[in-house]
Amino acid sequence: MKILVTGSNGQAGKELVQKGRLLEFDIIALDVDVLDITNKGAVCEVIKDNNISLCINAAAYTNVDQAEDDIKAAFAVNCDGPENIAYACAEEDIPFIHISTDYVFGGNKTALYIETDQMAPIGIYGKSKKEGEVCVKAALEKHIIIRTSWLYGVYGKNFVKTMLDLGRTRDEISVVCDQTGSPAFAADLADAVFVIADKIRKREEIVWGVYHYCNKGVISWYEFAVKIFEYAKQYESMEIDRVIPVNTKEYPTKAKRPKNSAMDCSLIVKTFGVKQPLWADSLKTMLDRLYILKDKA
Ligand SMILES: NC(=O)c1ccc[n+]([C@@H]2O[C@H](COP(=O)([O-])OP(=O)(O)OC[C@H]3O[C@@H](n4cnc5c(N)ncnc54)[C@H](OP(=O)(O)O)[C@@H]3O)[C@@H](O)[C@H]2O)c1
Repeated sequence: MKILVTGSNGQAGKELVQKGRLLEFDIIALDVDVLDITNKGAVCEVIKDNNISLCINAAAYTNVDQAEDDIKAAFAVNCDGPENIAYACAEEDIPFIHISTDYVFGGNKTALYIETDQMAPIGIYGKSKKEGEVCVKAALEKHIIIRTSWLYGVYGKNFVKTMLDLGRTRDEISVVCDQTGSPAFAADLADAVFVIADKIRKREEIVWGVYHYCNKGVISWYEFAVKIFEYAKQYESMEIDRVIPVNTKEYPTKAKRPKNSAMDCSLIVKTFGVKQPLWADSLKTMLDRLYILKDKA
């Protein structure tokens, strides 16, 4: 089965390509240098000419703060891009798995967000991702939209790697403790995506629609940072001695973040039987892989 992975050099994209190839899918991996998803003609051509049977979109404009000033570009990549892929998939009558975000939610819910909760994004990034979802749903019935959150992995830039860098040079850092959510290890996300892709390959009946996927457990960024340092110190010595919990108002950012964006993932677990490891277990797995890669480098 031939699968197109767009945004293949991103942190999710790289894991998707690796996982897909491991499972012996025929993966066509393209990033913006070869396939810009905002170019509708190019997207249609690649999908048609390569006889693609499934598209997975990991391409996105992900700089949440920069998006506030770069509205056109954020909407082009996060809304027009997936719309173009969905259009091309509809033309070829093939399914589309699109990755979205917890930032489509407003953040005021105290319980876990479920798939049918109203989207009410508070920043440009979330708004552009919301519109992307709306366009995909409108263009194509055979869609799976997977909202993930606090994504990190061994590839690319992310919170875990930023904390590791800071922990090597600083003896104390402040981290916000009043924003809660759930981290998602990109390799776990890729596993979940390919459980679904495998069902598509086997022509099993698929319940199309929106699903949530992240690791199990709700934490604050502060708790995440504390655990990152606790684990990292098992691999290397670090300068960091103290993590100071601070409120969002003490750490202003250009874009507002949802106060709580933790999501309920029981639907994807129940529907497809995907695994949802605990966030701390996946963090440990990621660090194992990161330090093995480092040792090899
Ligand atoms: N990162 C998070 O914390 C987070 C949280 C929740 C949801 N998500 C979602 O998860 C998905 C994957 O995110 P990620 O963290 O893996 O993102 P990422 O690391 O930023 O990767 C995105 C990839 O898309 C590429 N790209 C940008 N514009 C493109 C275009 N016009 N055409 C084709 N490719 C383009 C980027 O290339 P360049 O680097 O050259 O621009 C990059 O390789 C996204 O849908 C994102 O919204 C992410």
